[in-house]
Amino acid sequence: MSGDPIYTEMIIEYSRNPSNFGKIDDAHIHQHDANPLCGDTIDLYLNIDDNKISDVKFDGHGCAICMACSSVLTEMIKGKNLDDVKKFDKDELLSELGLEHLIKTSPVRIKCALLSLKTLKYGIYSYFADKLNDSESAGNLKEEAANLY
Ligand code: FES
Repeated sequence: MSGDPIYTEMIIEYSRNPSNFGKIDDAHIHQHDANPLCGDTIDLYLNIDDNKISDVKFDGHGCAICMACSSVLTEMIKGKNLDDVKKFDKDELLSELGLEHLIKTSPVRIKCALLSLKTLKYGIYSYFADKLNDSESAGNLKEEAANLY
């Protein structure tokens, strides 16, 4: 693994010591998703207070890239306003770990990198649809999640 240039020190470190790893009991949002190519899974838990992500955790099984991207995603959205989070873009996440090139170079690895973001988009899609009755935002989020990779 460490011989591949994709596996930077930061990715290896995050995969060994993921941030915000764990569960939130009775979370306001709990979303599960999986990478069909490898069977790896992620569960994302979010609490929302005053329209902000007051807490976020994830657990599951994934490769180093999946774990690193999930960690960074949770760090980037914690404390953020939901309206900002709904606009969160894959380029923001990929560039944080220097993985922008995966979009062109690795259709397999891009699924590892974006699984957590897909899970987030589906999770807040349901929240916007069911709790906030914001069908326009919900529709956009669902479409983005479905077309992320
Ligand atoms: Fe399963 Fe990367 S190999 S998420």
